[in-house]
Parts: sequence; C-alpha cells; structure tokens
Amino acid sequence: MNRMKGRFIAFEGIDGSGKSTQINLLKKRIEQCQAPCYETLEPSTGPIGSLLRQYLSGRMKADERTLAALFAADRLDHLLNETDGICPKLESGIHVICDRYLLSSYAYQSVRVPLDWVMQLNAAAADTLHPDCHIFIDVAPDITLERMAKERFHKDLFETKERLTEVRNRYLELIDRLREQETIILIDGNQSMEQVSDDIWNRTKHFFL
Ligand code: ADP
Ligand code: TYD
Repeated sequence: MNRMKGRFIAFEGIDGSGKSTQINLLKKRIEQCQAPCYETLEPSTGPIGSLLRQYLSGRMKADERTLAALFAADRLDHLLNETDGICPKLESGIHVICDRYLLSSYAYQSVRVPLDWVMQLNAAAADTLHPDCHIFIDVAPDITLERMAKERFHKDLFETKERLTEVRNRYLELIDRLREQETIILIDGNQSMEQVSDDIWNRTKHFFL
C-alpha cells in the first residue's frame, strides 16, 4: 500500500491495448462502492504533457533522450502540482486511476535510451509514489494497430509494429524483473471488454470493498 489515504492504480500496455476503456469501467465499479475516484493520464494535461503531445504527433522533433527527460518531468508535475496533482488527491482520500505511469517510461524509452538512465531520470517520481498495483493489459501489436486504424487517421510517434513489438517485449521483461518489489497484474487483453473488466475487478476489488 502507498502511504496515502486513497489507493493508486496505474494502467499499462501498448497503444490501443484497451487501457482507457478499462479505466472507465473500473471507475464505475469503484464509484458503485460509494468511493470517490479520479481518472487521469500521462502524458498529463499540464504544460509539459501538452508539449510532449506535440512531439508524439510529429508537429515537433527531439532526440529520444530529451523526450525521456520530458516524460519524467511531466510525471513529477502530474504528482505534485497544486491544481490537480495526484498526491494531494490521494492524501485527501480520493482513489486515483492513471492511464500510464513509471512502467511506460521504462518500457517505451528504454528501446532507445539505456534503462538505468531512464530509471535515474524517474527516481524522484518513484521515490514519491509507488502504485498499489500496476495493471498490464497484454495484447499483440497486430491487434492493437488494427483496432486503432478503425478509429484514427493519424499515427503517433511510437505507433509502428516494430516499436510496439519492442515495447511489449520490454514490458514483459520488466514484469519479470520487478515481480519481487512491485504488484503487477497481468491481464489477457484479447478477451471481450466485459471479460477483461471482470478479470481486473476480481484482482483489484479488495482495495475498495
Ligand atoms: P488505449 O487507451 O490503450 O489506447 P482504448 O481503450 O482506447 O485503448 O481502445 C482502443 C480501441 O480498441 C478502441 O476502439 C476500443 O473500443 C477497442 N477495444 C478496447 N478493448 C477492446 C477489447 N477487449 N476487444 C476489442 N476491442 C477493444
Ligand atoms: P497515450 O495517449 O496513452 O497512447 P494510447 O492511448 O494510444 O495508449 O500515450 C501517448 C504515447 O506516449 C504512447 O505512445 C506511449 C508514450 N509514452 C511514453 O513513451 N513514455 C511515457 O512515459 C508515457 C507516459 C507515454
């Protein structure tokens, strides 16, 4: 458990794996337990997150080491800012579900930047807040790319089969490596939305009931 009053759940997975769909469904279930719940995402909606989205969409270009530092800075701002920061919410007893957190940087940025470098950049966030659990929704890149093609015309920076395959492999390696120190729940995202949602609820409801 983190040291705050609210629980903190981080959703992880490659692009199009079903994170935002499942976050909405989990939030509804938590609220049915009469518990307050706040849903948020990274890159955040704050100033550094907005800047990052310009790089992700291709409007601006930067070296991947610079992007790694920006993702880490956005994360700290997302945790600590006084307007809608995660830590103040958790301290006041609100549960927070976040679409992506530390493992996203470890998995996506370590394809081009050494993992220990990425971990050092994120040390301040990791020392500030560990999720009560990370939920990794596992789906193959072929399937997520097909799902995304149905609803979008534009592809973001990392949305290629090659990159997503490397990212997925890194997620799986990280789950193995961090198993001892982190609670990481691996979910089969190939099932129907309802089945995925039931799996997630069965593994997390003890935090809220
Ligand atoms: P993410 O937030 O990880 O990018 P989304 O929740 O936006 O993923 O889902 C990407 C697309 O896949 C959406 O069109 C969504 O409706 C669809 N989708 C989500 N979960 C499933 C599922 N279990 N089976 C089939 N399609 C799904
Ligand atoms: P997101 O909008 O969540 O994409 P999707 O909904 O398709 O999963 O995330 C934007 C992109 O940013 C996604 O390709 C993953 C990437 N990303 C990183 O590379 N590192 C990070 O630390 C984070 C939070 C996201």
